[in-house]
Amino acid sequence: MFNLFKSKPKAARPIFAPLENDMHCHLIPRVDDGSKSEEETATCLRVMGAAGFKNVFITPHYTIPRFPNVESDILRRFDDLKLDLATHGGYDGPKLLGVAGEYRVDTGFNDRIASSAFLLIGGKYLLTEFSLHQQVLGLDQVMFDLQMKNYDIILAHPERYPYYSSSSHVLQHLKDMGIYFQVNILSLSGFYGEGPRRKAYEMIENGWVEFLGTDMHNTLYAQALIDASHDHKIEKLLEKHTFMNRLFTHPEEEGKKKF
Ligand SMILES: [Fe+2]
Repeated sequence: MFNLFKSKPKAARPIFAPLENDMHCHLIPRVDDGSKSEEETATCLRVMGAAGFKNVFITPHYTIPRFPNVESDILRRFDDLKLDLATHGGYDGPKLLGVAGEYRVDTGFNDRIASSAFLLIGGKYLLTEFSLHQQVLGLDQVMFDLQMKNYDIILAHPERYPYYSSSSHVLQHLKDMGIYFQVNILSLSGFYGEGPRRKAYEMIENGWVEFLGTDMHNTLYAQALIDASHDHKIEKLLEKHTFMNRLFTHPEEEGKKKF
């Protein structure tokens, strides 16, 4: 395999240890645009461990028609992955706490709501995302319907939707509804460009962001996470702000939740 780390032997610094848990990554091999092999998954997980993460939830895309994943198949593949990591090469990366999904609010989404066909993070949190190209029509109703089913809803990477500014009234409305926001760590280092980087910082400073996620896909992202772990501005941000990632393993801290 092409070794991205050969030219940059720098190791990750564990600056993300205060978060403890990552709840957004694409490391079930070959089911979406994430990892292409068990080996690549193990490499990415080891980098996440070196960056300070102890536990990981894997969240494959469920996007119609691009990634028409089925929960039963994802659960089986998750078990296969755990077995593979346990039986090959002395895996010493973060513990795999569970598998859930990153659900695109798309044309099939209302059917999912009706049938409650979701895998949740920690059995409780529903990770959603929007198209990067066009706003969701009828968003209010979708969120309302989800809340009627008692899901705790997390919106993935609000800083990456180009049609929302960092102070968008739509995002403000989602916060008012009690939707959690999860910003990508790599947005903070400029991996997705200057716009998302600036918006990520602004939203965190606004107090809008409850979770940070790696959104780890492959070894390119792993190298970017190593670089981000050497970013002193990100390190300072983590010292200044508290996020809710720890709740998955420290339910006794529930009282610190904003909503
Ligand atoms: Fe993602």
